[in-house]
Amino acid sequence: MPTNMQVLLAARPKGTVQESDFRIVKTELPALKDGEVLVQVHFLSLDPYMRGRMDDVKSYAASVNIGDVMTGGTVGEVVESKNPKFAAGDQVLAMFGWQQYAISDGRALQKIDTRKLPMSVYLGSVGMPGVTAWYGLKQIGAPKAGETVVVSAASGAVGSIVGQLAKILGCRAVGVAGGKVKCDYVVNELGFDACVDYKAGNLYADLKAAAPNGIDVYFDNVGGEVLDTVLKLLNAFARIPLCGLISGYNAEPYPLKNYRSFLVNRVKLQGFIVSEHMEIWPQALAELGGLVASGRVKYRESIAQGLENAPRAFIGLLKGENFGKQLVKLV
Ligand SMILES: NC(=O)c1ccc[n+]([C@@H]2O[C@H](COP(=O)([O-])OP(=O)(O)OC[C@H]3O[C@@H](n4cnc5c(N)ncnc54)[C@H](OP(=O)(O)O)[C@@H]3O)[C@@H](O)[C@H]2O)c1
Repeated sequence: MPTNMQVLLAARPKGTVQESDFRIVKTELPALKDGEVLVQVHFLSLDPYMRGRMDDVKSYAASVNIGDVMTGGTVGEVVESKNPKFAAGDQVLAMFGWQQYAISDGRALQKIDTRKLPMSVYLGSVGMPGVTAWYGLKQIGAPKAGETVVVSAASGAVGSIVGQLAKILGCRAVGVAGGKVKCDYVVNELGFDACVDYKAGNLYADLKAAAPNGIDVYFDNVGGEVLDTVLKLLNAFARIPLCGLISGYNAEPYPLKNYRSFLVNRVKLQGFIVSEHMEIWPQALAELGGLVASGRVKYRESIAQGLENAPRAFIGLLKGENFGKQLVKLV
């Protein structure tokens, strides 16, 4: 059996995550028992939710214990099987976490079809982030053609899909992203109508210019100052799918100044956790798979090489250093 490299949670972060919060170990894998498969991980997904799992606070999911393998979505290939449902060479999706190999009884493994889509896409646009965009926009935002949809973290895994789906629905799509390079990509490559650089220092004026008819749906990935500014530009009966609060994951809570907008505009805000809506995944994945395979929906990936670089890439993700879906390539 091969040696396995794993990344463990070594310490709970105090504020900003440090590389010393992780520990890399090498372990020996036991021989396979009947019914088991050995999977070699090819790509690990790095996602903002992992920051929450490093803390020991009440949340919608359990924390990672100190000394445990960091949690995470993975795609890989079966290298040995003693399970009749899987054969060597099968490509699979599973939550194996930050490690090179995993042994499974097959129950939590899902076969993936890489004939039309590359393996990594099942961790991004045709995976959890894509379904998050699909669910939040369609089920909560429910935009009508002609309405204005604004999305933050617009060049990222979730935001990039939100804006492209909004365009397909006939809406005006406006992104908010950090820096000119990301904003140019969002408009020129992804086809949004406009994108506002929230780091440029004119957030309210720039958003107002980008959304001249006001904002009907704000898909919130970041919270904080961007949310507070958007509140001033909402139309009556606006909807806010509250997907994430990344601006606060490493920081103190940001007090909202424009809370009155909820009342005067009769706004609906709804937080959601995509894994609690498994009933819509097959429909969302089928739709996203078709859109991505045909090229109608585009995606971009930031790929770190080697599991040992996962901690650094994760720390970068929380600072906006990724440009598109953040992955780690292990093979
Ligand atoms: N509710 C759910 O079920 C669910 C599921 C998946 C993801 N999410 C949430 O969705 C959000 C986006 O996730 P993702 O996987 O698509 O990540 P992502 O957008 O690919 O990467 C994170 C991005 O967040 C932005 N960011 C980082 N710090 C920020 C700050 N202080 N202020 C504003 N923006 C900041 C950065 O973009 P810029 O350079 O543009 O700032 C960074 O590239 C996260 O909040 C995540 O927790 C929720």
